[in-house]
Amino acid sequence: MSLVTPHGGILINREFFNGNIDSTRASINISQTERNDLELIANGAYSPLEGFMDEKDYESVLETMHLSSGLPWTLPITLAVDEKKAKEFKTGEIVHLHFNGTVFGEITITDIYEVDQEREAKKIYLTSDLAHPGVKKLFERPNVYIAGPISLFQIPIRTQFPTFYLSPQQTRTIFSKRGWKTVVGFQTRNPIHRAHEYIQKTALETIDGLFIHPLVGETKSDDIPASIRMESYFTLLKNYYPTDRVFLSVFPASMRYAGPREAVFHAIVRKNYGCTHFIVGRDHAGVGNYYGTYDAQKIFNDFSPSELGIVPLFFEHSFYCRKCENMATRKTCPHTKSDHIFLSGTKVRNMLKNGRRPPKEFSRPEVIDILIKGMETNTLPNANSLNYSRR
Ligand code: ADX
Repeated sequence: MSLVTPHGGILINREFFNGNIDSTRASINISQTERNDLELIANGAYSPLEGFMDEKDYESVLETMHLSSGLPWTLPITLAVDEKKAKEFKTGEIVHLHFNGTVFGEITITDIYEVDQEREAKKIYLTSDLAHPGVKKLFERPNVYIAGPISLFQIPIRTQFPTFYLSPQQTRTIFSKRGWKTVVGFQTRNPIHRAHEYIQKTALETIDGLFIHPLVGETKSDDIPASIRMESYFTLLKNYYPTDRVFLSVFPASMRYAGPREAVFHAIVRKNYGCTHFIVGRDHAGVGNYYGTYDAQKIFNDFSPSELGIVPLFFEHSFYCRKCENMATRKTCPHTKSDHIFLSGTKVRNMLKNGRRPPKEFSRPEVIDILIKGMETNTLPNANSLNYSRR
Protein backbone atom coordinates (compact mmCIF):
# COMPACT_ATOMS: atom_id res chain seq x y z
CA MET A 1 0.00 0.00 0.00
CA SER A 2 1.61 3.29 -1.01
CA LEU A 3 0.93 6.05 1.48
CA VAL A 4 1.01 9.78 0.91
CA THR A 5 4.54 11.09 0.28
CA PRO A 6 6.05 12.93 3.25
CA HIS A 7 6.58 16.69 2.91
CA GLY A 8 9.73 17.15 0.84
CA GLY A 9 9.80 13.53 -0.33
CA ILE A 10 11.31 11.53 2.55
CA LEU A 11 10.54 11.02 6.21
CA ILE A 12 13.43 12.48 8.20
CA ASN A 13 14.90 10.37 10.98
CA ARG A 14 17.41 11.83 13.39
CA GLU A 15 16.95 9.48 16.34
CA PHE A 16 20.13 8.03 17.81
CA PHE A 17 19.06 6.25 20.96
CA ASN A 18 22.02 3.92 21.44
CA GLY A 19 25.04 6.17 21.10
CA ASN A 20 27.41 7.26 23.84
CA ILE A 21 26.90 10.82 24.97
CA ASP A 22 30.14 12.83 24.91
CA SER A 23 30.06 14.48 28.34
CA THR A 24 32.77 17.04 27.45
CA ARG A 25 30.44 19.02 25.17
CA ALA A 26 29.02 22.42 26.08
CA SER A 27 25.29 22.59 26.57
CA ILE A 28 22.20 24.75 26.18
CA ASN A 29 19.10 24.54 28.36
CA ILE A 30 16.04 24.22 26.16
CA SER A 31 12.39 24.97 26.91
CA GLN A 32 9.60 22.39 26.93
CA THR A 33 8.38 23.61 23.55
CA GLU A 34 11.89 23.27 22.12
CA ARG A 35 12.21 19.78 23.57
CA ASN A 36 8.91 18.86 21.91
CA ASP A 37 10.13 20.32 18.62
CA LEU A 38 13.43 18.45 18.95
CA GLU A 39 11.54 15.16 19.20
CA LEU A 40 9.21 16.02 16.32
CA ILE A 41 12.08 17.05 14.04
CA ALA A 42 13.91 13.82 14.89
CA ASN A 43 10.99 11.44 14.32
CA GLY A 44 10.06 13.02 10.99
CA ALA A 45 6.83 14.74 12.02
CA TYR A 46 8.39 18.03 10.87
CA SER A 47 9.93 16.61 7.65
CA PRO A 48 11.74 18.07 5.73
CA LEU A 49 13.24 19.93 8.73
CA GLU A 50 16.42 18.31 9.99
CA GLY A 51 17.09 20.86 12.67
CA PHE A 52 16.20 24.25 14.08
CA MET A 53 15.81 26.88 11.35
CA ASP A 54 18.63 29.12 10.17
CA GLU A 55 18.11 32.78 9.30
CA LYS A 56 17.49 32.07 5.63
CA ASP A 57 14.64 29.65 6.32
CA TYR A 58 13.32 31.81 9.16
CA GLU A 59 13.14 34.88 6.90
CA SER A 60 11.62 32.88 4.11
CA VAL A 61 8.94 31.41 6.41
CA LEU A 62 8.08 34.82 7.84
CA GLU A 63 7.89 36.56 4.46
CA THR A 64 6.64 33.86 2.08
CA MET A 65 5.21 31.00 4.19
CA HIS A 66 7.69 28.74 2.38
CA LEU A 67 11.11 27.39 3.31
CA SER A 68 14.03 28.74 1.28
CA SER A 69 13.81 25.51 -0.74
CA GLY A 70 10.36 26.63 -1.90
CA LEU A 71 8.35 24.09 0.14
CA PRO A 72 5.34 25.43 2.05
CA TRP A 73 6.05 25.94 5.77
CA THR A 74 4.24 28.48 7.92
CA LEU A 75 5.68 28.50 11.47
CA PRO A 76 9.28 29.19 12.51
CA ILE A 77 10.77 26.22 14.38
CA THR A 78 13.59 27.82 16.29
CA LEU A 79 15.89 27.43 19.28
CA ALA A 80 16.34 30.58 21.39
CA VAL A 81 19.34 31.30 23.63
CA ASP A 82 20.19 34.40 25.56
CA GLU A 83 22.63 36.78 23.93
CA LYS A 84 25.41 36.22 26.45
CA LYS A 85 25.21 32.43 26.16
CA ALA A 86 25.10 32.66 22.36
CA LYS A 87 28.46 34.49 22.38
CA GLU A 88 30.07 31.34 23.87
CA PHE A 89 29.33 29.43 20.67
CA LYS A 90 30.50 29.52 17.09
CA THR A 91 29.31 27.82 13.93
CA GLY A 92 30.55 24.29 13.43
CA GLU A 93 30.39 23.53 17.15
CA ILE A 94 28.30 20.63 18.47
CA VAL A 95 26.33 21.48 21.60
CA HIS A 96 24.17 19.34 23.88
CA LEU A 97 20.50 20.19 24.40
CA HIS A 98 19.49 19.87 28.06
CA PHE A 99 16.06 19.90 29.62
CA ASN A 100 15.71 19.60 33.41
CA GLY A 101 19.20 18.17 33.71
CA THR A 102 18.81 15.52 31.01
CA VAL A 103 20.62 15.61 27.66
CA PHE A 104 17.90 15.01 25.08
CA GLY A 105 19.99 15.63 21.99
CA GLU A 106 22.55 17.80 20.30
CA ILE A 107 22.77 20.46 17.62
CA THR A 108 25.56 21.13 15.13
CA ILE A 109 25.54 24.91 14.93
CA THR A 110 25.33 26.34 11.42
CA ASP A 111 23.97 29.80 12.21
CA ILE A 112 23.46 32.21 15.12
CA TYR A 113 21.18 35.19 14.48
CA GLU A 114 19.26 37.91 16.23
CA VAL A 115 15.57 38.48 15.52
CA ASP A 116 13.02 41.24 15.91
CA GLN A 117 10.31 39.57 18.03
CA GLU A 118 7.78 42.32 17.37
CA ARG A 119 8.09 41.62 13.64
CA GLU A 120 7.89 37.86 14.18
CA ALA A 121 4.75 38.28 16.27
CA LYS A 122 3.03 40.43 13.64
CA LYS A 123 3.96 38.07 10.80
CA ILE A 124 3.07 34.81 12.56
CA TYR A 125 0.30 35.77 14.99
CA LEU A 126 -0.93 38.87 13.12
CA THR A 127 -0.71 40.78 16.40
CA SER A 128 1.91 41.79 18.94
CA ASP A 129 -0.64 41.96 21.75
CA LEU A 130 0.84 40.36 24.87
CA ALA A 131 -2.61 39.09 25.83
CA HIS A 132 -2.25 36.58 22.97
CA PRO A 133 -0.78 33.39 24.56
CA GLY A 134 1.50 32.66 21.58
CA VAL A 135 2.82 36.22 21.48
CA LYS A 136 3.38 36.19 25.24
CA LYS A 137 5.48 33.04 24.96
CA LEU A 138 7.43 34.50 22.05
CA PHE A 139 8.34 37.63 24.03
CA GLU A 140 9.38 35.52 27.01
CA ARG A 141 12.07 33.86 24.86
CA PRO A 142 15.50 35.39 24.26
CA ASN A 143 15.83 37.00 20.83
CA VAL A 144 18.92 35.16 19.57
CA TYR A 145 18.34 31.92 17.71
CA ILE A 146 20.79 29.06 17.22
CA ALA A 147 20.31 26.92 14.14
CA GLY A 148 21.50 23.64 12.72
CA PRO A 149 20.77 19.95 12.29
CA ILE A 150 19.93 18.02 15.45
CA SER A 151 20.22 14.50 16.78
CA LEU A 152 17.83 13.09 19.37
CA PHE A 153 19.29 10.81 22.06
CA GLN A 154 16.27 10.30 24.23
CA ILE A 155 12.54 10.89 24.43
CA PRO A 156 10.85 11.94 27.67
CA ILE A 157 9.60 9.14 29.94
CA ARG A 158 5.82 9.21 29.70
CA THR A 159 3.78 7.87 32.56
CA GLN A 160 0.38 8.86 31.17
CA PHE A 161 -1.03 7.04 28.11
CA PRO A 162 2.51 6.06 27.00
CA THR A 163 1.32 3.72 24.24
CA PHE A 164 -0.41 6.60 22.45
CA TYR A 165 2.85 8.39 21.56
CA LEU A 166 3.57 7.12 18.06
CA SER A 167 6.00 8.37 15.44
CA PRO A 168 4.97 9.13 11.84
CA GLN A 169 6.71 5.91 10.78
CA GLN A 170 4.54 3.94 13.23
CA THR A 171 1.23 5.57 12.24
CA ARG A 172 2.06 5.11 8.55
CA THR A 173 2.65 1.40 9.16
CA ILE A 174 -0.68 1.13 10.98
CA PHE A 175 -2.67 2.96 8.27
CA SER A 176 -1.04 0.79 5.66
CA LYS A 177 -1.85 -2.44 7.55
CA ARG A 178 -5.44 -1.34 7.86
CA GLY A 179 -5.56 -0.91 4.10
CA TRP A 180 -6.69 2.72 4.32
CA LYS A 181 -6.12 4.49 1.01
CA THR A 182 -7.41 7.76 2.41
CA VAL A 183 -6.94 8.99 5.98
CA VAL A 184 -8.38 12.18 7.43
CA GLY A 185 -6.47 13.83 10.29
CA PHE A 186 -8.21 15.63 13.13
CA GLN A 187 -6.27 18.07 15.31
CA THR A 188 -7.77 19.07 18.64
CA ARG A 189 -6.82 20.63 21.96
CA ASN A 190 -10.29 20.05 23.42
CA PRO A 191 -12.58 17.24 24.47
CA ILE A 192 -14.55 15.94 21.51
CA HIS A 193 -17.93 17.61 21.58
CA ARG A 194 -20.91 16.94 19.31
CA ALA A 195 -19.72 19.50 16.75
CA HIS A 196 -16.35 17.77 16.46
CA GLU A 197 -18.03 14.37 16.25
CA TYR A 198 -20.34 15.64 13.53
CA ILE A 199 -17.57 16.94 11.28
CA GLN A 200 -15.39 13.88 11.89
CA LYS A 201 -18.19 11.48 11.00
CA THR A 202 -19.24 13.54 8.01
CA ALA A 203 -15.65 13.18 6.73
CA LEU A 204 -15.68 9.49 7.60
CA GLU A 205 -18.65 8.95 5.28
CA THR A 206 -16.26 9.35 2.33
CA ILE A 207 -12.75 8.79 3.73
CA ASP A 208 -11.42 5.32 4.67
CA GLY A 209 -10.02 6.15 8.11
CA LEU A 210 -10.16 8.85 10.76
CA PHE A 211 -6.95 9.72 12.60
CA ILE A 212 -7.80 11.51 15.84
CA HIS A 213 -4.59 13.24 16.80
CA PRO A 214 -5.03 15.47 19.87
CA LEU A 215 -2.25 17.89 20.66
CA VAL A 216 -0.86 17.05 24.11
CA GLY A 217 2.18 19.34 24.33
CA GLU A 218 1.98 22.64 26.16
CA THR A 219 -1.38 24.42 26.02
CA LYS A 220 -2.56 27.54 27.82
CA SER A 221 -3.43 27.11 31.47
CA ASP A 222 -7.19 27.33 31.05
CA ASP A 223 -7.33 24.64 28.33
CA ILE A 224 -8.49 21.24 29.61
CA PRO A 225 -5.46 19.10 30.58
CA ALA A 226 -4.50 16.28 28.22
CA SER A 227 -5.02 13.52 30.81
CA ILE A 228 -8.67 14.50 31.22
CA ARG A 229 -9.16 14.87 27.49
CA MET A 230 -7.66 11.45 26.82
CA GLU A 231 -10.10 9.84 29.22
CA SER A 232 -12.94 11.53 27.36
CA TYR A 233 -11.61 10.35 23.97
CA PHE A 234 -11.41 6.75 25.23
CA THR A 235 -15.02 6.82 26.43
CA LEU A 236 -16.30 8.38 23.26
CA LEU A 237 -14.41 6.07 20.91
CA LYS A 238 -15.46 3.02 22.85
CA ASN A 239 -19.13 3.90 22.73
CA TYR A 240 -19.77 5.86 19.56
CA TYR A 241 -17.09 5.18 16.92
CA PRO A 242 -16.40 2.19 14.65
CA THR A 243 -13.10 0.90 16.10
CA ASP A 244 -11.78 -0.41 12.81
CA ARG A 245 -12.17 2.94 11.06
CA VAL A 246 -10.68 5.23 13.69
CA PHE A 247 -7.19 5.50 15.13
CA LEU A 248 -6.17 7.58 18.14
CA SER A 249 -2.67 8.70 18.97
CA VAL A 250 -1.21 11.92 20.36
CA PHE A 251 0.73 14.87 18.95
CA PRO A 252 3.31 16.05 21.51
CA ALA A 253 3.77 19.55 20.07
CA SER A 254 3.11 22.78 21.91
CA MET A 255 0.10 24.81 20.85
CA ARG A 256 0.98 28.18 19.27
CA TYR A 257 -2.55 29.59 18.86
CA ALA A 258 -1.39 31.08 15.55
CA GLY A 259 -4.75 30.46 13.84
CA PRO A 260 -4.37 30.44 10.01
CA ARG A 261 -0.62 29.79 9.88
CA GLU A 262 -0.92 27.02 12.45
CA ALA A 263 -3.73 25.38 10.48
CA VAL A 264 -1.43 24.94 7.47
CA PHE A 265 1.36 23.73 9.75
CA HIS A 266 -1.02 21.22 11.39
CA ALA A 267 -2.05 19.93 7.96
CA ILE A 268 1.53 19.49 6.67
CA VAL A 269 2.59 17.68 9.82
CA ARG A 270 -0.41 15.31 9.60
CA LYS A 271 0.62 14.54 6.03
CA ASN A 272 3.92 13.35 7.50
CA TYR A 273 1.97 11.07 9.85
CA GLY A 274 0.32 9.55 6.76
CA CYS A 275 -2.89 11.56 6.30
CA THR A 276 -4.27 12.35 2.85
CA HIS A 277 -6.91 14.77 4.19
CA PHE A 278 -7.12 17.17 7.12
CA ILE A 279 -10.12 18.75 8.84
CA VAL A 280 -10.19 22.52 9.24
CA GLY A 281 -13.34 23.78 10.91
CA ARG A 282 -14.22 27.10 12.50
CA ASP A 283 -11.41 29.24 13.94
CA HIS A 284 -8.86 26.43 13.79
CA ALA A 285 -6.04 26.97 16.31
CA GLY A 286 -7.55 30.34 17.14
CA VAL A 287 -7.80 32.12 20.45
CA GLY A 288 -9.93 35.07 21.56
CA ASN A 289 -10.99 37.25 18.64
CA TYR A 290 -7.63 37.54 16.90
CA TYR A 291 -8.70 35.67 13.74
CA GLY A 292 -11.83 35.61 11.64
CA THR A 293 -13.97 32.45 11.92
CA TYR A 294 -12.81 31.12 8.54
CA ASP A 295 -9.36 32.75 8.18
CA ALA A 296 -7.72 29.38 8.86
CA GLN A 297 -9.55 28.01 5.80
CA LYS A 298 -8.93 31.01 3.52
CA ILE A 299 -5.15 30.81 4.00
CA PHE A 300 -5.13 27.52 2.05
CA ASN A 301 -5.89 29.58 -1.09
CA ASP A 302 -2.33 30.89 -0.85
CA PHE A 303 -0.97 27.42 -1.67
CA SER A 304 -1.38 25.18 -4.69
CA PRO A 305 -2.85 21.75 -3.91
CA SER A 306 0.21 20.01 -5.34
CA GLU A 307 2.72 21.89 -3.17
CA LEU A 308 0.72 21.10 -0.02
CA GLY A 309 0.13 17.46 -0.86
CA ILE A 310 -2.70 17.08 1.66
CA VAL A 311 -6.33 17.95 1.01
CA PRO A 312 -7.95 20.26 3.57
CA LEU A 313 -11.59 19.45 4.33
CA PHE A 314 -13.34 22.63 5.37
CA PHE A 315 -16.34 22.64 7.69
CA GLU A 316 -18.65 25.45 8.61
CA HIS A 317 -19.46 26.25 12.19
CA SER A 318 -21.63 23.30 13.33
CA PHE A 319 -24.27 23.18 16.04
CA TYR A 320 -27.31 21.24 17.23
CA CYS A 321 -30.61 22.47 15.82
CA ARG A 322 -33.71 21.90 17.94
CA LYS A 323 -36.01 22.04 14.91
CA CYS A 324 -33.91 19.70 12.75
CA GLU A 325 -33.30 17.56 15.87
CA ASN A 326 -29.86 17.03 14.49
CA MET A 327 -26.36 18.41 14.18
CA ALA A 328 -26.09 20.77 11.24
CA THR A 329 -24.39 23.82 9.77
CA ARG A 330 -25.70 26.92 8.03
CA LYS A 331 -25.28 24.95 4.81
CA THR A 332 -27.78 22.27 5.83
CA CYS A 333 -30.14 23.93 8.32
CA PRO A 334 -32.80 26.51 7.36
CA HIS A 335 -33.65 27.56 10.95
CA THR A 336 -32.62 30.58 12.95
CA LYS A 337 -29.94 31.03 15.60
CA SER A 338 -32.51 30.82 18.37
CA ASP A 339 -33.06 27.16 17.41
CA HIS A 340 -29.38 26.38 17.61
CA ILE A 341 -27.44 25.10 20.59
CA PHE A 342 -23.84 26.20 20.60
CA LEU A 343 -21.67 27.02 23.59
CA SER A 344 -18.34 28.79 23.55
CA GLY A 345 -15.35 27.10 25.17
CA THR A 346 -15.28 29.74 27.89
CA LYS A 347 -18.96 29.20 28.69
CA VAL A 348 -18.48 25.44 28.91
CA ARG A 349 -15.41 25.81 31.14
CA ASN A 350 -17.35 28.11 33.47
CA MET A 351 -20.29 25.69 33.59
CA LEU A 352 -17.98 22.80 34.40
CA LYS A 353 -16.13 24.79 37.06
CA ASN A 354 -19.48 25.49 38.73
CA GLY A 355 -20.51 21.83 38.49
CA ARG A 356 -23.23 22.58 35.93
CA ARG A 357 -23.78 20.11 33.10
CA PRO A 358 -23.61 21.44 29.54
CA PRO A 359 -26.60 20.06 27.58
CA LYS A 360 -26.38 16.66 25.91
CA GLU A 361 -26.89 18.35 22.55
CA PHE A 362 -23.56 20.05 23.12
CA SER A 363 -21.59 17.14 24.51
CA ARG A 364 -22.21 13.44 25.13
CA PRO A 365 -23.16 12.84 28.81
CA GLU A 366 -20.26 10.36 29.24
CA VAL A 367 -17.84 13.12 28.21
CA ILE A 368 -19.45 15.63 30.56
CA ASP A 369 -19.14 13.17 33.46
CA ILE A 370 -15.41 12.86 32.85
CA LEU A 371 -14.93 16.60 32.51
CA ILE A 372 -16.79 17.32 35.74
CA LYS A 373 -14.86 14.62 37.59
CA GLY A 374 -11.63 15.96 36.07
CA MET A 375 -12.43 19.52 37.11
CA GLU A 376 -13.12 18.36 40.67
CA THR A 377 -9.85 16.50 41.07
CA ASN A 378 -8.04 18.74 38.58
CA THR A 379 -6.49 15.73 36.88
CA LEU A 380 -7.15 12.07 36.30
CA PRO A 381 -3.85 10.37 37.06
CA ASN A 382 -4.75 7.09 35.43
CA ALA A 383 -5.85 8.04 31.96
CA ASN A 384 -5.83 4.42 30.83
CA SER A 385 -8.36 3.35 33.42
CA LEU A 386 -11.11 2.77 30.88
CA ASN A 387 -8.93 0.25 29.19
CA TYR A 388 -9.63 1.54 25.73
CA SER A 389 -8.04 -0.86 23.29
CA ARG A 390 -7.23 -0.16 19.69
CA ARG A 391 -7.58 -2.88 17.14
S1 ADX B 1 -7.84 23.65 17.80
O1 ADX B 1 -7.17 24.80 18.41
O2 ADX B 1 -7.15 22.41 18.03
O3 ADX B 1 -8.14 23.91 16.39
P1 ADX B 1 -10.43 22.64 18.72
O4 ADX B 1 -9.98 21.47 19.48
O5 ADX B 1 -11.53 23.45 19.31
O6 ADX B 1 -9.22 23.67 18.58
O7 ADX B 1 -10.85 22.28 17.25
C1 ADX B 1 -10.54 21.11 16.59
C2 ADX B 1 -11.02 21.20 15.16
O8 ADX B 1 -12.47 21.28 15.13
C3 ADX B 1 -10.56 22.43 14.39
O9 ADX B 1 -10.40 22.12 13.02
C4 ADX B 1 -11.73 23.41 14.56
O10 ADX B 1 -11.76 24.33 13.51
C5 ADX B 1 -12.91 22.46 14.51
N1 ADX B 1 -14.10 22.93 15.25
C6 ADX B 1 -14.21 23.16 16.58
N2 ADX B 1 -15.48 23.50 16.92
C7 ADX B 1 -16.20 23.54 15.76
C8 ADX B 1 -17.57 23.82 15.41
N3 ADX B 1 -18.48 24.14 16.33
N4 ADX B 1 -17.92 23.73 14.12
C9 ADX B 1 -17.02 23.39 13.15
N5 ADX B 1 -15.74 23.11 13.41
C10 ADX B 1 -15.32 23.17 14.69
